[in-house]
Amino acid sequence: MGKKNSGAQTRNLEDGPALCEILEQRGISRRDFMAFCTAMSAALALPATFAPRIAQALDQVARPTLVWLEFQDCAGNTEALLRASNPTVAELILDVLSIDYHETLMAAAGHQSEEVLAKVVKEQKGKYIAVVEGSIPLKDDGVYCCIGGKSAVDIAREVCGNALATVTVGSCAAFGGIPAASPNPTGAVGVSDAVPGATVINLPGCPLNPDNLTATVVHYLTFGKLPATDSLGRPLFAYGKRIHDACERRSHFDAGQYVEQWGDFAHRKGHCLYKMGCKGPETFNNCPTQRFNEKTSWPVGSGHGCVGCSEPLFWNTMTPFYRRLPNVPGFGIETTANKIGAGLAVATAAAFAAHGVISALRPGEDSQEERREETDAEDRNRPDNQD
Ligand code: SF4
Ligand code: F3S
Repeated sequence: MGKKNSGAQTRNLEDGPALCEILEQRGISRRDFMAFCTAMSAALALPATFAPRIAQALDQVARPTLVWLEFQDCAGNTEALLRASNPTVAELILDVLSIDYHETLMAAAGHQSEEVLAKVVKEQKGKYIAVVEGSIPLKDDGVYCCIGGKSAVDIAREVCGNALATVTVGSCAAFGGIPAASPNPTGAVGVSDAVPGATVINLPGCPLNPDNLTATVVHYLTFGKLPATDSLGRPLFAYGKRIHDACERRSHFDAGQYVEQWGDFAHRKGHCLYKMGCKGPETFNNCPTQRFNEKTSWPVGSGHGCVGCSEPLFWNTMTPFYRRLPNVPGFGIETTANKIGAGLAVATAAAFAAHGVISALRPGEDSQEERREETDAEDRNRPDNQD
């Protein structure tokens, strides 16, 4: 089989129809396909001008074989992949990948399914992509998760150790997740710790955003190599920025406007959730821009703070979820929300004074509190809030 570039395989006649032909058969127009390629450029943090290159690559490369393993997990990432009632182009892209083995979805069972997996590992060594969902228990020789008489760790070492690359989906497969939360009774770890030496791309999240899986595969098919990652193996295109730096509530954080209680005036107005425990300042993910459920919303957009689900061992390090972070990077090690608010009030005052609108100055912390209560009362007394 010929090479497209350093990694992805060019499509030969025996590989069947091209992706664009498959999509056309499924009622996806060329226009929709190009819109998908443009969306993938954005997901990969590339200029829109890369869309034709992505389209060309997807037209030419062979479908890579993909095997999906599930270990200690809730199947939430599989659910995320299958979530939409109307299949999107992105889902079809994954659908038309050759997913030869997926324990939750495949029709085959028992020995038949084990044979499928063994065949891929043997016949496509170094060419297939392994996707892993769920953590891998190492304690007591891995007896706490066995499939077909084999421990998860033995399966992972065989399948991931012989793959072109392994993509972990969700925080359990990436870092151990909930099964690894203290006291971690099964000795659960992520794939990198269970299979030292394997090439692993981590897509943590609880669950992951399936767009990031699609974009990772599209990156490989387009450029013939895996995307650049941070020190935790997370692709920079998706995990290169803090939630806090792209959050739509950030202007309220900067202005010192915080939600103090669930349902208060500030909450209803979409102010910052930092004091309600939001972990956005310490979490790296593209949730504010990629969003979920066909881009309708994301946790902070829905009114709940980020719980830091894409960070290592977040069940240990980010709890209690509703207690605010003691320090915020970028504002000095001892800086708290109140000090930030006070400091920003001074800066804001100077800015307003310079523009001759000092009367618009934000009140101090106490009077701000009083004003918020007054505004809450006013809000409650509005006619549209009366029974
Ligand atoms: Fe957004 Fe949370 Fe940062 Fe506030 S603390 S700006 S809600 S990410
Ligand atoms: Fe997780 Fe925070 Fe995104 S909780 S889904 S990383 S907004």
